[in-house]
Amino acid sequence: MASDAQNSNALIEVKGLKTHFFLDEGTVQAVNGVSFSIDRHKTLCVVGESGCGKSVTARSILQIVDHPGRIVEGQILYHGDAAHNSAGGEVIDLAALNPRGKEIRSIRGKDISMIFQEPMTSLSPIHTVGNQITEAILLHTEMTQEEADARAVELLRRVGIPKPEDRLKAYPFQLSGGMRQRVMIAMALSCNPVLLIADEPTTAVDVTTQAQILELLDELKAELGMAILLITHDLGVVAETADDVVVMYLGQVVERGDVDSIFHAPQHPYTQALMRSIPKLGVSRHLQRLDSIRGMVPDPYNRPNGCMFGPRCEHFMPGRCDAADPPTIQLATNREVKCFLYEDEANSGSSKFTPAER
Ligand SMILES: Nc1ncnc2c1ncn2[C@@H]1O[C@H](COP(=O)(O)OP(=O)(O)OP(=O)(O)O)[C@@H](O)[C@H]1O
Ligand SMILES: [Mg+2]
Repeated sequence: MASDAQNSNALIEVKGLKTHFFLDEGTVQAVNGVSFSIDRHKTLCVVGESGCGKSVTARSILQIVDHPGRIVEGQILYHGDAAHNSAGGEVIDLAALNPRGKEIRSIRGKDISMIFQEPMTSLSPIHTVGNQITEAILLHTEMTQEEADARAVELLRRVGIPKPEDRLKAYPFQLSGGMRQRVMIAMALSCNPVLLIADEPTTAVDVTTQAQILELLDELKAELGMAILLITHDLGVVAETADDVVVMYLGQVVERGDVDSIFHAPQHPYTQALMRSIPKLGVSRHLQRLDSIRGMVPDPYNRPNGCMFGPRCEHFMPGRCDAADPPTIQLATNREVKCFLYEDEANSGSSKFTPAER
C-alpha cells in the first residue's frame, strides 16, 4: 500500500487511524482505518457525504475529538522541519500524544491550526478581534504586546480587512460573515503554521465571498509555504483548489489520488457516483451538495457487512462485496482504490473500468 511507502514530501502521514465514539446506544466507528498523507505546500481536499468522518479525521489530527470520542488505533505522523520548531526535524506521532498535554498544545495553533465552518463557534463574542489574534501570538511566541498588536494589524491587512487598526477594537458581531471568516484565517495564520486545516470554511458565506476566501487561502499557501487540508462537500471547490483528493465513505477512504485522476478517471463506484452528481452549468450552486446518489448513507450503528458502499453500489457482487472488507489496491504512485473490482488486476496496471460519464 502506498501509505506504507516512504514519502519524503509528506508533512503528515495518517496510518490506519480509528477514532470511535463510545455512546450508550453503541459505538460509532466515525473514522475506521483511514490512511493518507498530506504533502508539504500542497492542498489536500477531503470529500464525502455528510457523516462520513471528514471532521472527525481533521479533529483527530489536532487531538480535539469531542467526548465520548477517542483515537483507538493508528498513527498520525507529523514530520516537522527545522524552521517550525515544535518537531524540529523529528517525527511526532500526534495520535499518541495526551490530548490535554503540553506537547499537543504547543503544536495546536502554532504548527497546525484550524478554521471552522461557522466563525462564531470559535470566535469569542466577548473579546475584541485584536485580543483574540494577539492571544495566540503571545501564547506561542516571545513577542511583546506591542509587537503582537503590530503583527495582528499586519495579518488583518493581509487577509483583506480594510482599516485593520480600527478593526482590532471591533467585536466579532460587528463584522459581516465574510469579515469574520477573514478574522478566523488571520488568527489561524498568526504563528505561520505549516498546516492549515479548513473544515468547510466557506459554506456559511455567499458565493462571491467564497471565491475570494478560497483565492486568499491559495495565495497564502504559496506565500507562507504551508499545506492545506480542506474539507468540503463542494466538488467545484475541489476542482479549483486541490492538488490531491481523499474520498471518504462511512469512516473509510475509498479512493485517493491527484485531483486530475480523481476527476477524469474516478475508479471507485462511489467516486464515480459523486462525479455524476455534479450538476450541469446553470444549476443552482446549492444543489451541488453530494446528495443525489441513490440510497442513503447507512445508520452508523448498522454498518453493512463487507464493503460499506455495497448496498448502494451499482456494481455490487453478491457473495463477494458483502463477505469481506475490500482490499485497498494501489493503482499507481499515490493512487489507491478500496474496491473488489480492481483486485484481479492489482498487479497488471491496466484498468478495465471506464471512468464515469460526466
Ligand atoms: N461528538 C460526537 N458524538 C457522537 N458521535 C459523533 C460526534 N461527532 C461526530 N460523530 C459521529 O461521527 C460520524 C462522523 O462525523 P463527522 O462529523 O466527522 O462527519 P462529516 O463527514 O464531517 O460530516 P459533515 O459533512 O456533515 O460535516 C457521524 O456518524 C457522526 O454522527
Ligand atoms: Mg464535518
